[in-house]
Amino acid sequence: MERGSGFGSSTMVAALAVLVFAMVVMVPEVSATRWTVGSNMGWTSNVNYTIWAQGKHFYNGDWLFFVYDRNQMDILEVNKTDYATCNSEHPLHNWTRGAGRDVVPLNVTRDYYFISSKGFCYGGMKIAVHVENPPPPPTTSPLNEKSGSPSSIFTSQYVLPTVFVIGSLWDAFLRFL
Ligand SMILES: *[C@@H]1O[C@H](CO)[C@@H](O)[C@H](O)[C@H]1NC(C)=O
Ligand SMILES: *[C@@H]1O[C@H](CO)[C@@H](O)[C@H](O)[C@H]1NC(C)=O
Ligand SMILES: *[C@@H]1O[C@H](CO)[C@@H](O)[C@H](O)[C@H]1NC(C)=O
Ligand SMILES: *[C@@H]1O[C@H](CO)[C@@H](O)[C@H](O)[C@H]1NC(C)=O
Repeated sequence: MERGSGFGSSTMVAALAVLVFAMVVMVPEVSATRWTVGSNMGWTSNVNYTIWAQGKHFYNGDWLFFVYDRNQMDILEVNKTDYATCNSEHPLHNWTRGAGRDVVPLNVTRDYYFISSKGFCYGGMKIAVHVENPPPPPTTSPLNEKSGSPSSIFTSQYVLPTVFVIGSLWDAFLRFL
């Protein structure tokens, strides 16, 4: 016991370090996407957002990021009817925060409809997004087909279990000492 204990605990530390490193490195594989609406054009007039959304897969847990001129446009979530008619009288949610940079979590598997009021919707400033359940863990990595300018962010969904696992490992490690 005494003879091996010094060697044993440093081996344990090394193993733990490798494990934690591996977990931290592995987390990005299960990541969500933050979609910048309109890519480098942003949220503005003269962009056809139906075309922008075409071929993209929006998954539960992703975000939409609206970047726009805060003095002119806004971002309202409406229902399907109001999306079609550009009616901003009774939005389901007003996502406008005032900085012209608003993040909307797509955290329910359903259709989402967004418009800009102040007349812009009539000019085409509206977007409908179909949110699907995330695909099963990567097989040949179908996620790479995403275009536009998404950036990966960890979701609490995945970070929390990782933190928990690290915590339990740490407990086990302390008990081992
Ligand atoms: C959208 O809301 C309006 C007003 O509340 C309502 O008249 C309309 O039926 C709703 N449409 C849908 C598809 O729920
Ligand atoms: C949405 O919220 C913003 C910021 O609170 C506010 O200035 C704006 O008037 C609201 N728009 C609508 C249509 O409610
Ligand atoms: C989705 O996000 C909104 C805004 O953060 C929140 O109010 C709502 O409770 C969330 N819904 C679910 C099902 O997590
Ligand atoms: C956007 O493009 C789609 C498909 O080509 C077309 O059906 C739609 O009318 C366009 N929308 C606007 C606002 O021009």
